[in-house]
Amino acid sequence: MTALWQALPAPLQRVSCAWLEAAGIELALLRLDLVDPLLSGNKWYKLAPHLTEARRLGAPGLISLGGAHSNHLHALAAAGARFGLASVGLLRGEPQDTPTVRDLAAFGMRLHWLGYAGYRQRHRADFWDAWRQRYPGFVTVEEGGASLAAAQSCAVLVELIGQGLGALGWDDYQQLWVAAGTGTTLAGLVLGEAGRHPVVGCLALPADHGVAETLQRLLAQAGQGADGRWRLRDASRGGFARLDGELARLILDFERETGVALEPLYTGKLLLALREALARGEIAAGSRIVAVHSGGLQGRRALEARLQALAGLTPSSDR
Ligand SMILES: Cc1ncc(COP(=O)(O)O)c(C=O)c1O
Repeated sequence: MTALWQALPAPLQRVSCAWLEAAGIELALLRLDLVDPLLSGNKWYKLAPHLTEARRLGAPGLISLGGAHSNHLHALAAAGARFGLASVGLLRGEPQDTPTVRDLAAFGMRLHWLGYAGYRQRHRADFWDAWRQRYPGFVTVEEGGASLAAAQSCAVLVELIGQGLGALGWDDYQQLWVAAGTGTTLAGLVLGEAGRHPVVGCLALPADHGVAETLQRLLAQAGQGADGRWRLRDASRGGFARLDGELARLILDFERETGVALEPLYTGKLLLALREALARGEIAAGSRIVAVHSGGLQGRRALEARLQALAGLTPSSDR
């Protein structure tokens, strides 16, 4: 049987491009996108405790929720296929054919489309009852894999950063940046840092979508007060998954200059928020920054044509 989860080392890579050089900032990316071809990015770390729990309980599989492009469901389905666990995905909206959904089916995930109204029920206390009856013994995983165990599992990322500094010739860094969807990975970094470096969470959703509350709840559950060294920035550019020309150009230029591909909803918006912070003079020249590349490139497949069009590389009616 395939060995279950282990903390895979992720390379820390120096990257440079025109806007970083202009600001006199050194940036290193924690390349979680490289840790595994399928369980990519922060997902590997966030899913680990759920997979371990499923194995410990002898559960037949895992069940979770997400959208038709969900990186979380993609990783969960891939993990199920790899570790011999069944997987069930509860999807937002009506049936759609996307590269992600095709992969989910290929990994053997059972798919249930809940519609939009049905999906909105997911926060009800009794939401899981019917699914637990239908799939007895399955481990349920909250939307986006948010949980204290997942956050604690992400704390190891700070150790990975520490292990990579020597190879860069860095003795320290001044800030740690990460994208935030549920805030779970961010909570893990705040726990791992334990106040050593400020952690900046770049919100992929507008600020009123509850990330600050989730973060504070997870930190409180972990026994840490809300006064840790972290702050949130709205990086959503008006809405989750909303794209625009500036974002598209940053992503494509960054890839051309550094060779590192970004996906638009999380890491692209993170880098754009960093560029804006530099343009406003918020970070002192000479600073060294680490940013987490949290993977998710599978989700970019459905957006590639729009990115090219928004960047002005191909004609489009919705630029
Ligand atoms: C690529 C990518 N980066 C970052 C995040 C945010 O992680 P979290 O939900 O732990 O805040 C997600 C998913 O939510 C993601 O898919």
